[in-house]
Amino acid sequence: QIDRKVAELMKKMTVAEKVGQLHQLSGRQFTGPTSSAYADKLADIRAGKVGSMLNVKGVADTREIQALALQSRLKIPLLFSLDVIHGYQTVFPVPLGESASWDMEAIELSAHIAAKEAAAAGIHWTFAPMVDVARDPRWGRVMEGAGEDTYLGARIAAARVHGFQGKQLGATDSVMATAKHFAAYGAAIAGRDYNAVDMSNQQLFETYLPPFKAAADAGAATFMNSFNTLNGVPATGNAFLQRDILKGAWKYKGFVVSDWGSVREMVPHGYAADLSDAAVKAINAGSDMDMEGYAYSQHLQAAVKACKVKMATLDDAVRRILYKKFELGLFDDPYRYSDAAREKTVLGDVSHRAAALDVAQKSIVLLKNGNQLLPLSREARRIAVIGPLADSQRDLEGGWVVQGERAKVVSILEGMRSHGGKAEISYAQACAPGCTSNEGFADAVAKAAAADVVVLAIGETWDQSGEAKSRSDITLPGQQEALFNALKATGKPVVVVMLAGRPLVFNTIADQADAIVYAWFPGSEGGNAVANVLFGDYNPSAKLPITFPRSVGQIPLSYIQYNTGRPVTDEKNVVYKSAYIDSVNTPRYAFGHGMSYTEFKYSGLTLSSPSMNGAQKVTLSFDLANTGKVEGTEIVQLYLRDMVSSVVRPLKELKGFEKVRLKPGESRRISFTIDRDTLSFFNSQLTWGAEAGDFKLMVGSASDDIRLESTLKLN
Ligand code: IFM
Repeated sequence: QIDRKVAELMKKMTVAEKVGQLHQLSGRQFTGPTSSAYADKLADIRAGKVGSMLNVKGVADTREIQALALQSRLKIPLLFSLDVIHGYQTVFPVPLGESASWDMEAIELSAHIAAKEAAAAGIHWTFAPMVDVARDPRWGRVMEGAGEDTYLGARIAAARVHGFQGKQLGATDSVMATAKHFAAYGAAIAGRDYNAVDMSNQQLFETYLPPFKAAADAGAATFMNSFNTLNGVPATGNAFLQRDILKGAWKYKGFVVSDWGSVREMVPHGYAADLSDAAVKAINAGSDMDMEGYAYSQHLQAAVKACKVKMATLDDAVRRILYKKFELGLFDDPYRYSDAAREKTVLGDVSHRAAALDVAQKSIVLLKNGNQLLPLSREARRIAVIGPLADSQRDLEGGWVVQGERAKVVSILEGMRSHGGKAEISYAQACAPGCTSNEGFADAVAKAAAADVVVLAIGETWDQSGEAKSRSDITLPGQQEALFNALKATGKPVVVVMLAGRPLVFNTIADQADAIVYAWFPGSEGGNAVANVLFGDYNPSAKLPITFPRSVGQIPLSYIQYNTGRPVTDEKNVVYKSAYIDSVNTPRYAFGHGMSYTEFKYSGLTLSSPSMNGAQKVTLSFDLANTGKVEGTEIVQLYLRDMVSSVVRPLKELKGFEKVRLKPGESRRISFTIDRDTLSFFNSQLTWGAEAGDFKLMVGSASDDIRLESTLKLN
C-alpha cells in the first residue's frame, strides 16, 4: 500500500522536487563545516527543495520548521534527524562503555529510552548506532562503537537497532536507526579521523561488514556512508559497497544518507573533478541523500538532463526516502512526533534514570583489585575523594550530548557522599580537568595522608575522544600520573577510577595502583554507579570490549591474531620470532578481561559429539560455579580456532557468550550450540562456508584466560 502511495506522489513531482527530497540541511547547530546561511535554508524548505533537516530538536522548533515544509507545493513533510548516540535527555554511558556490559537487554533498553525521549522531542531519526569495528584506540571515535570484535559488535548492532526502532517504525516511542559508517571507517590508517582505509576484501567481509549486515537484518531503516576511501574509492562514491553489497546482495530496502559533506569531499579526495561530478558519482554509486554537501541540490537536475544520472536512479533514491516518510505516518500527521504534552511527560519520566544507573553499573570494568581492597567498607573509614574528574558533571556525560540536564548529573563525589554511610569523605580537586597544573597537589596529598583510603578520579575529559579527536599519544593527559605518584607516596591505598572514551595507556598506574575501575563516560547516573561498585552494592561484571595496549607502538592490537610462521611461545625467548625487542606482544588488559568480587570455577566440559556432519549441531556444555562469598555475574566466553583451512584463521575468535548470575556456592551447567555457521568463514572467493577438519573450542573468562578446551571434528 505504501508503494502505491509513493508511486502516486512521485507522479506529481517535478525533477526539482525529487532532488529536493535528497537534500539534507543542518539547523543552527553544526556537527561539521557548513557554507549556507540559515535564512536561505528556510527559504529552500518553503520552496520544497529540502527533504530532511538534521540538528533541529524540540517540539517547538520542529513544529516551526515542519510548518515551512507544509507551505511547499506538494506539502511533503521533512524528516528530522539528530545524533542521539547515548541518550537524549537521560544520558547513558557512551556506547563503548555500554558494550562492556555485554548485556543485550540493557543496551536495547538504553537505545529505546533514548529513542522515546528523542521521538517525544520531534525527532524521527537518529544517526546511530555506529557499528564500525575499531581496533585502534588512537581513533577518537572508538568511543561511539562496540569495540574491536565482530561477533560482539554484530550482536550489539542488532540490539541497538531494535532498541531505537522499537516494535514498529512509526510508533511515537521509536525513531529510525542508522547503521554507520558504511564502511570500514574504523580502520582509518594510523587512527587518524577521516583518513584513508586500505584493506583486503577478505578482511572487509570477515571483520568490518558483519555488524552492518546484522543491523540491516535487524531492520535498520537507514545507513550512513563514510568519509574514508576504501581501497582508493571514497565510501560515498563506492558502488561496490552501496550497490553491489548493500542494495544488491543484501537486498536492502532503506535509504543511504551521506556523512556530513562527504559527497562534496570526493573533490579533495581527487575522485571527483568538481561538485557536479561528485553528485553524479555519489548517486550512481547508491548514496541517496546528500547531507550538507549541496552537490545534489546544485547539480543533480542538470545531471539528469544531461543523462549522466538516469531518471530511474533518481526515482529509486526518492522512492526509498518517501517510503520512510509514509512508514513513519508523516503524511497522515506531519506533527505526530511534535506533541508538547508528550514531550513534557516523557522527558520528565524518572524511570529512565533507573535504566541509566543499571547499565552504567553493568559497564564499569574492574581491572585490578590488589589485596581485595574493593569493595570499600563504609564503617568508620576516612575516604579521600580526589582528582580533576571527581566532582565533574560534564566529564561523566561524554561527547554527543543532546539535551542532557547537566545540573542533574551525579558526580563521583556526590555518589560517594550519598552512598558512603558512616564513611567520612573529604575532597580535593588537585587540578582542573585537563590537569595542566600541580598547584593543588599539596592540598590533595594532605587530604590523602589524613585518610584511610584514596579514591582518585582521573582520565580523559569528555572532549578528548569522539569525532575529530584522534590522539597520537593515548597516555593520561596532563599531570595526572604525577598526581597519582604524589598520592601513592603517602603510603595510603589508592583506588583509581578512570574515565575515558577509549583505552588509555597507564602502565605506572596499572602496576602501582591498589585497585582500578574503568568507568568510561558513564552518563547521568555515573556517580551513583561508581559508588555502588566501589562500596560493593553492585558486584562488577563488565568485560572489556576492546584490547588495552601497553604502548602506542603495539597498535593496532586485538585479541584476533593470526599465527605467524614464527610464533612467540615464550615471551622471554623471542630471538628470530615475530616479536619486538623492546616490548612483549601481550596487551596490558586483554579483550574480555574484567574482574568480580567473587570467583568463578569452570569445569566438566563435554561435547554432545566429538565430530559433526553436514547440518548436524553439537552442544558444548560445562559447569560454572560461584566459589566466592558474594553473588556475582560472570560473562562466559566461547572462542574457536579452525586449525587448518584454505585461508588462515585467527588463533581465537569469539563465537558466543552468556551472562550468568550465581549466588555464592551455586553452580549451573552452561551450554552453547555449535552449528555449521559457527565454524564458517569467508574463503578466498568470499564465499561463506565451513571446511572439514579440526576445530579447537575454548571456554573462558577472557580472551587471555581460557579455562577449558576441547576439539571438534567437522567431517
Ligand atoms: O552523524 C554524524 C557522523 O557520525 C559524523 N559526521 C556528522 C554526522 C551528523 O552530525
